[in-house]
This record gives sequence, structure tokens and C-alpha cells, in this order.
Amino acid sequence: MKNIPLMVLFLFGSLMVTGQNSEIPSSVKNVESKVDSVLSLMTLEEKVGQLVQYNGSWDLTGPASEMNNKEKEDNIKNGRVGSMLNVLSAEATAEAQKLVMENSRLKIPMMFGYDVIHGYKTMFPVPLGETASWDLEAMEESARIAALESVAEGVNWTFSPMIDVSRDARWGRIMEGSGEDPYLTSQVAVAKVKGYQGNDLADEKTIAATAKHFVGYGFAEAGRDYNTVHIGENELHNTLLPPFEAAAKAGVATVMNAFNDIDGTPATGHKVLQRDILKGKWDWDGFVVSDWGSIPEMIEHGFAKDKKQAAQIALNAGSDMDMEGGAYESSLEELVEEGKVSMKHIDDAVRRVLRVKFKMGLFDDPYRYSNADLQKEVPYEEHRQAARDIARKSIVLLKNEKELLPLKPSVKNIAVIGPLADDKDSPIGNWRAQGEANSAISVLEGIKNAAGKDVKINYAKGADHGIGERSFLMPLKINTTDRSGFKKAIKTAEKADLVVMALGEDAFQAGEGRSQVNIGLAGLQQELLEEIYKVNQNIVLVLINGRPLEITWASENIPAIAVAWQLGSESGNAIADVLFGKYNPSAKLPVSFPRAVGQEPLYYNQKNTGRPSNDEHVTYSAYTDEKKDALYPFGFGLSYTDFEYGDLSLSSEEMEAGGRIQASVELTNTGDVEGKEIVQLYIRDLVASTTRPVKELKGFEAVTLAPGESKRIDFTIDEEILKFYNVNKKWEAEAGDFEVFVGGNSRDLQKVGFSLKESKVIFEDHFEGEELNMENWNYEEGDGCPNLCGWGNNERQGYYREFVKVEDGKLIIKAVKEGDKYFSGKINTKDKVEFKYGSVEVRAKLPDGHGLWPAIWMLGNNIDEVGWPASGEIDIMEYVGRQPDTLHNALHTPASHGETENIKSTPVPGITEDFQVFRMDWSEDAIEFFINDEKTYTFSPEVKNDETYPYNHPFYLLLNLAVGGNFGGPDVDDSIFPKEFIIDYVKVTK
Ligand code: NOJ
Repeated sequence: MKNIPLMVLFLFGSLMVTGQNSEIPSSVKNVESKVDSVLSLMTLEEKVGQLVQYNGSWDLTGPASEMNNKEKEDNIKNGRVGSMLNVLSAEATAEAQKLVMENSRLKIPMMFGYDVIHGYKTMFPVPLGETASWDLEAMEESARIAALESVAEGVNWTFSPMIDVSRDARWGRIMEGSGEDPYLTSQVAVAKVKGYQGNDLADEKTIAATAKHFVGYGFAEAGRDYNTVHIGENELHNTLLPPFEAAAKAGVATVMNAFNDIDGTPATGHKVLQRDILKGKWDWDGFVVSDWGSIPEMIEHGFAKDKKQAAQIALNAGSDMDMEGGAYESSLEELVEEGKVSMKHIDDAVRRVLRVKFKMGLFDDPYRYSNADLQKEVPYEEHRQAARDIARKSIVLLKNEKELLPLKPSVKNIAVIGPLADDKDSPIGNWRAQGEANSAISVLEGIKNAAGKDVKINYAKGADHGIGERSFLMPLKINTTDRSGFKKAIKTAEKADLVVMALGEDAFQAGEGRSQVNIGLAGLQQELLEEIYKVNQNIVLVLINGRPLEITWASENIPAIAVAWQLGSESGNAIADVLFGKYNPSAKLPVSFPRAVGQEPLYYNQKNTGRPSNDEHVTYSAYTDEKKDALYPFGFGLSYTDFEYGDLSLSSEEMEAGGRIQASVELTNTGDVEGKEIVQLYIRDLVASTTRPVKELKGFEAVTLAPGESKRIDFTIDEEILKFYNVNKKWEAEAGDFEVFVGGNSRDLQKVGFSLKESKVIFEDHFEGEELNMENWNYEEGDGCPNLCGWGNNERQGYYREFVKVEDGKLIIKAVKEGDKYFSGKINTKDKVEFKYGSVEVRAKLPDGHGLWPAIWMLGNNIDEVGWPASGEIDIMEYVGRQPDTLHNALHTPASHGETENIKSTPVPGITEDFQVFRMDWSEDAIEFFINDEKTYTFSPEVKNDETYPYNHPFYLLLNLAVGGNFGGPDVDDSIFPKEFIIDYVKVTK
């Protein structure tokens, strides 16, 4: 074993921070260099160790492994484990970390993960319920709180948010996501990532987040957990991937892959998904953790013959860390030795893990998240108040007849009935982390807390629901026979002015492995409801549930119904806030409630089909025994006040390519109390290159209005929201007719229409023939770069022949060296290319080279007036593959900034020796850069923090080979500079 002073490694972070001198080479300046420097010290065994995750056995959330604790401990001590899950408490994580820090050679700290899904100690509504609030700030806040409570107990990584779009109420895990809509799920994904991770992963009050399950898990066939997923590419891109892309762009530290196979390939072994899309196309730099045992489960899938082959497939496909699967630790080293897994892939995986650990500050202080003192600082009482607030914001009022709600002062005798009425456990939900069993405020308690002294509250359970042992891993038994409590319940109801019935689901009816073929009121609940109804019809039905329920009978008969989900610690108080009118309900369903389970999967954003309707015959897409629409649609929810929508209008019925229009509506509170409405915007692409949904949510705004108050709501419609993954396998907005809908749910909407205009080619040259087409091009006397540009003197023609020529239908621009300087060819369009929004596309073959590179510039009409970018140029080449923080520098070569060191070593990003299509698209909001249709960068005023956008004035298109030379600058080896580039065509569209 090499004898390397590894303690140094752990010190260098802190020494760097404090600016003290250390043994760390001065080249170690940033995370990437730190990662590389650690990587270079690692043996293969140690590398593999970073890719292994063990369960700590504190809390099993999957089938137990065969390995005993002693063996696990030895492996941890020997640096063969990169992270653990389910190790809880600051003391326990410190203990585990100590094993690494005091025994292993490299002392690379471990991360500690846990399923903090809807709170750590303070329980928040289950994610589906919380999403019903449509309150992104509140959702961010609950994640922030969960993070704080987690770190106080040593947990620094959560396996949340789950952002699987799910449309099947049979699937138990629908409770864990944000419902059926990709747009809403994406918004929640970003809010959650921000909440958990804050702005700085190294902040000891933040934790790393995990976007899961990548991908398709929510589309399990027939709603059966872990089942096969059949999904086409179109749906994959348009529906399932967007939330993950949003999370990746929001900087989520890790992604968990999924148990399911997708179109024949297990997600864990899916190279296209993990390597090509997630890490390639989206350029995401975190790491992928497998789901629990999902690597060896590829054996059961019939995709790998043994653990070794499973490890090979998974690693090669881009699964970086093996959660409790035992496949990587047993086989990766051998696989590398046999050449079946490349060192390049191992290094990439390890780099990703180390990168996250560095960003979390673990190398600065491996114990930073095992700070027991932090517990004293956690304001649990405040957290409960926040939990109550988001819980009441999540309650959806489905029906309110006979003016039962809010409860009137005349109601003096309330019967509280139902198996869930005094259940202090079910509201805690399934993924309860360290939420204590039986610790929620029950409905009964909430009502008692809220009701005045003169109101009599009588409680009767009616029947048990979940019986026997109730736990995360064990099947739940439901009472279907014991009706002994019915009598008392009926009696209690008979005497009451009003009955509050709490029915729905036990905490362990929804969640992992809790799929059901029936989604009605299980056990004896429906029967109990009907018995009570016979004696008292003034019923307010409060549903405690983790999935959409089939409540057709209740909907027809019960006058008031509220969906209260599993709301967490403050459930009963939040419910009482709504029942007594202390909070006016504002939530909207994030998922459709069906009329019958046979409709599932049911979702508003469905396709029209070729036979959408026919009232006279059966031969259309419908059911013969039930309506086809939802009982309560996506986006639906009532308030105690009424909202009236004025006429929906559009600022224009035509939209320019790249332009934008506005949809506006006036909303008035016509009722008697203040209320909040979630105003929703949907669109429909009427004719497209692939079939499109009948409606798609594209925006929403929460508006609070006093009685009588009105407000105008404007939604901006631009090309971005019209884009979809189309027949060309690209995200494009296609010209043609669209419908715009605005309203308070996905069913009751106003509609207007507009058309998106086709873009036109306004300039094009394919360089046919042997000469440059002089009608298109000009050689300006350039005074912008007299030292560098060849035409800046009287010998222009001579230079032209050498610098710029057309050969075999290609334009070739060359650089020529004179003395110690290079001169380059440069041509620009004869006339201004006048367009407001559009696209410039160049197919070119660029020289492979380092340092300085070729450019295709758009020059503003009047550079001085433009002001932005600083030099008045937008450079199509120099932005590709660049990070925002180097944006300004990217306008110039490193040499021009005096950064001489990197010139030799920095390859031009995104450049290959092949012809590639470079494109930049202007819209009102941003300029986007593409190489071969892959978006490489978005330049927006937010990124640039610049006010001068939109950049909508005439341009000159300028082609230039900006190869380097000595510019009077550093003495560099000019053999590495690109000397020539070949252009196949140039096209400008608007
Ligand atoms: C399996 C679940 O699918 C996943 O969501 C969870 O994070 C892991 N188990 C760890 O408990």
C-alpha cells in the first residue's frame, strides 16, 4: 500500500477556506481539482468503496442483506463503503464516521442518507397532499425544516423529492409524488431541491437532495408496484423526464434510479437514460444512487445472469452507487481487471461521488453534520406551526352543499365518527422518518380544540380499520367483520346537529408496496357511512388518504366532502381550521378523482383519440357503464367564497416565431369572505407532428382577494411553453393553431385561440459554385481589430484569396501567420440581417485545437448603443458548453484576459473534428445555444443580470476565424491553434 499522508487531504479544505498555507499544491483551486487530487491517490479497491452504500440496520426500508454487522464494520473501516443509509442520530453517524476517519487509509468521509420524504420529526402532509396547496414557497419551507431536523440528527442526505409523474390511483406510491401533471411536478421538484439544499450544500443546515426514481416508476402497469413500464419515447420525454430535468437544472445533488424496467430495459441498467440523457444531454454533474438492491434485482428481471453481470451492466449504464445491493463490492474490481468495466467509467462515478462530498463540505469537516448541539437550536414548536399552516393549505374542499361548511354557530352538537376520527397515527403517513407513532393531532382533538365551550362533541369510532401490527414492511390487515361499534356510532349520529365523519386510509394503505385493486372506502367504512347517513344526513365527510379514492356514492349523497390527505403532525388542528372557517380552503387537486377504479389510469392531460365523442353510438372512446371523465378533475377545489372569471382575452391572435403574447382575465371575489384562488393556465396544440394532450397546464397564479375585490391576471405565452418533444425528437414549438384556457380547474375553463407563425428563412448561403456570392457578403474595413484581421490594410484582396475561399461547396476560412502574429479571414453579410427574434444556424467543421477558437459573431447595429454584451457581440461559438460564471470571459480568449496558463490545456468545449450544426435561437426571453440540437447554454437576462434584453434589432452576421497567435501576449506553442474552419452553410430564420 502506498504510504500517503492522507490526513492532509482532510485538512486541505479547511486550510483552503481559512486561506492558510497547506501542503496542498497551489493548483488545487476548486472542487474539480480537489476531486482529481483525491482520485489520483485512490486504489481501485478504494474507488469501488466510494460506490458502495450500506444500510445501517437502524431502520429497514427494504429487504435485509445477508451481511452481518461485523463484516460491515470491517468494510467501513477499510474504506470500502462510501455512504450509509438509515443511520440515525448525531452520535450514531459520528460513530460510523469515526470508523472511517480513524481506520481507513484515505479517510474519505461517508454521507448518511435517509428517506426524509415528508418531514423528519415534524410531519408535513404527504407529498401528494402538500402539492394540493400549489404553494411552492410553503413546499420549499417544509423541505428546509425537514433538512434542519435531519442534520440535527446526523442525516445529511435525503432520498427526496420523489418526482415520478403518476396517474394511477391503484399505485400506493402515488402518495409520494406530486400527481399527474409534469409541469406542476417540475415546479415542486425545484422548490423541494431549493428547500433541502439551500444555496450552499456546505451549509451545515442543509442536506443533499435526491430526485427519484429515474425513471418511469410511476407508470407501473396496472398500478402494481415495481411492475413493468411500457412507455414510448414521446411520452417519456414529454411527461416523465421534464421534472427530472428541472431538478437537474436546479442542482439536485443526487438522482436515484428506479426498480422498474422500461420498454424492456431495467432503469438501473439503462444507459440511454442515465449516461446519455441525464449526464450527457443535461450535463448534470451529481451522482446516481441505485434504488435499494435494484442492481442485483436485474437478475430477477432476467437481464443479468448473476450479481457480477448486474454490476457490469449497472456501472456501464451510469448507476454510480450501489444501495445495499452488494453487487459493486463483490464484482467491480474483477470487472475492471477483466476489462468489462473501464477505469474511465469507474473514475467518472467516483468523481461524481467525491464532488458531492466536497460540495457538502465533508472534507472540511467530516463530522459537520453530526453536531448534537444543533438539536437544541431546532425550533420544533415553530415547525409545528409551519406544518399546521401547510396542512390547512393542502385540504381540498370537494363539495359543500346545504351550507354545512364552515360550521355555523347554530351547530351545538357535533358527532365525530369513524375509524380515523381519533386516529393519531394515520395522519403521520407512511414515510414517517422519525415522526413518532400516534403523535398527530387527531380530527377529534382538532375539533375539540377549536369548538366553543357550548358545543357538545360526541365521538364514536364505529369500527376499527387497520388492525394488528401496522408497520412499514408488513402487510396491513383491515377490519372487514367487526361491526360491534356501529350501534353506538348510529346512536351518536342520531342525536347530533351535524356529523363529521373521518374515513379514508390507514397510513400503511398507501406507500411503497401498497398497491390496491380497490380504491374505495376500504373495510367497513362505506357501510358505516351509509348506516350513519340513514339517521343523519348532515354529514361532513373528511377523507384522510394518500391516494385518490373512489367516492362516487359519497359524492352523490353526502353534502360536504373535504380531502384532508395524511396531513402530518398538525392534521386535526388544520382540519378544524378549515371546518370552523378559520382558514378558507384554497387547495386544488393535483390528481384526478375517478368515478370508478376501472378508469385508472385517469388524468386530465390525456389525448383526444380519433373517436373522442359521439352521443348516439357506442363506437367512440368511452365506457358503456360509466362516464369517462373524472368525478373531480385535476385542479379542482372549492372555497367558502365565490370567484367570477371575466372574459379571457389575448393580446394578439397571432404570435411571431420567438415572440410572445399575453392571456388576461379579470378575477373577482363575489362572495362574502376573503379567499384564495389558484388561477390556472392550460394550452392545447391543435395540430402537431405528434398527437398532443387535450390540455396541458402551463402556468398558475395564487390570488387572494377580499370580498368584492377584483384583480387582472396576466399569463405570458411564449414559444418555450409551446415546445414539446416532437417527431424530430426535438423540443420545438410548431407553427399552427393553439387554444388557451384559463380557469379554476382543468374542466371549467374559458377558451380562446391564437396561431404561432411559421419562421422564414431570411438569409442563406450554401456556398455553391467556386466563388463567394458577393451579393451576400462584404469585406468591411474592420477597425474593430486592425491588428488581427486580415483586411485591415490595403492588401485586402490578397488576403481574401488566402484567408477566405469557396471550394467544393464549402467556405474555407484560414489563418495565416505573419511574423509573430496570426491574421484571420473575416467576412460579414452585405446588408443588415434584420430580425427581432429568430435563429442563426451554421453547419461547420471546426479545427480541433486548444486555447483560441473560431467564431461566428452577430454584431449589433450599433455596438456602442447595445451595451451588452460588453463588446456588443454575441458569439455563437464561444458560448457553447460554457458555464454562466465564465460567460463574460467567454467573450474573449483567455489570452486577452492575461490568463496565459490555460491556453494550451483548455480544449474548445463542444468541438469535434466532424461537421456539426451550431445554432443560436433568440426569443424575447433568452438566447439559447445548441450543438446538433442539444442545448448547451441559455443566455437570459437573469443569467447575465442585464436589462438590455431583448436584443431585437438589425444585426450583421460576421464569420471569423479568430485563431490566435501572439497578440503581443504570451509565448505559447502555436502548433495547437486551430488554423482553418470549413463552413457548409449559414442560415438565418426569423
Ligand atoms: C426503496 C424506495 O423505492 C426508495 O424510494 C427509497 O429511497 C429506498 N428504498 C431507501 O429506503
